[in-house]
Amino acid sequence: MSRTVYVDGAFVPEDEAKVSVFDRGFLFADAVYEVTAVFGGKLLDFDGHMARLERSLGELDMEMPVDREKMLELHRELVKRNNVQDGCVYLQVTRGAADRDFVFPKGVSQTLVMFTQNKTLTGEKKGIKVISVPDIRWGRRDIKTVQLLAASLNKMEAKKQGKDDTWLVEDGFVTEGSSNNVYIVTKEGKIVTRQLSRSILPGITRAAVLKLAAEQGLEIEERPFTIDEARNAAEAFATSATTFVTPVVEIDGAELSGGVAGPIAKRLNEIYIEEGRKSAI
Ligand code: PDD
Repeated sequence: MSRTVYVDGAFVPEDEAKVSVFDRGFLFADAVYEVTAVFGGKLLDFDGHMARLERSLGELDMEMPVDREKMLELHRELVKRNNVQDGCVYLQVTRGAADRDFVFPKGVSQTLVMFTQNKTLTGEKKGIKVISVPDIRWGRRDIKTVQLLAASLNKMEAKKQGKDDTWLVEDGFVTEGSSNNVYIVTKEGKIVTRQLSRSILPGITRAAVLKLAAEQGLEIEERPFTIDEARNAAEAFATSATTFVTPVVEIDGAELSGGVAGPIAKRLNEIYIEEGRKSAI
């Protein structure tokens, strides 16, 4: 069965959807994106994703192609047309199509593309194994651009080594995972995660999970940490819209929490799911 996708104002079968070869998303990665989880047919953390989209666009001197209310309507319509229960909506906004020139074109209309993916979000999480690699990305990782080649190369390196993901290291400290924010839990039970800056993406799941953790009375410290500290932590985990709270059970060959999902990561995932069921719209 072919999906219905959204391209520039129309819902069309995926094999009929077209974007110009001159689109700046294609030529320059001059585009930003969002991935919003669909949970029980509803959208999770939708407002957070749209707020970040607006910020990403603003940082690149672009505007929202349609207002938030229309975005919600489009997301819901796409979810409905594709009958998605659990999965995600991928959304991409590019500066539009124009003859190739490094200078931003004037008077072109943006390209807005959206599609859905089905994905199990609540399966049992055994925990993932990660390796550290140098963070080779550009300096504005706080903007959710579609420049994902580094992330793709990193995932391939992990796969080649029989692992699940990579943790990125810059100037001796962990920035984030290839497509997620990362955390360690100290032996004293404190959650440590890098503070927000231009070095990492401000994860929407990160914000939600840190809020829930604080409500649980867990202590949170936002600061950089090294791979060495992580390898010696009590447990570790990662968060993203499509993987929720994922326990990390091995970092560069060092086993954490006895090789099984740590209790804090497990609990936070349960709470995030529980709250998500209530708050999804
Ligand atoms: N990735 N850091 C990076 C580099 C990411 O690509 C992502 C998300 C996150 C987590 O952000 P959020 O909690 O808002 O999903 C952190 C998405 C899921 C992706 O590219 O598929």
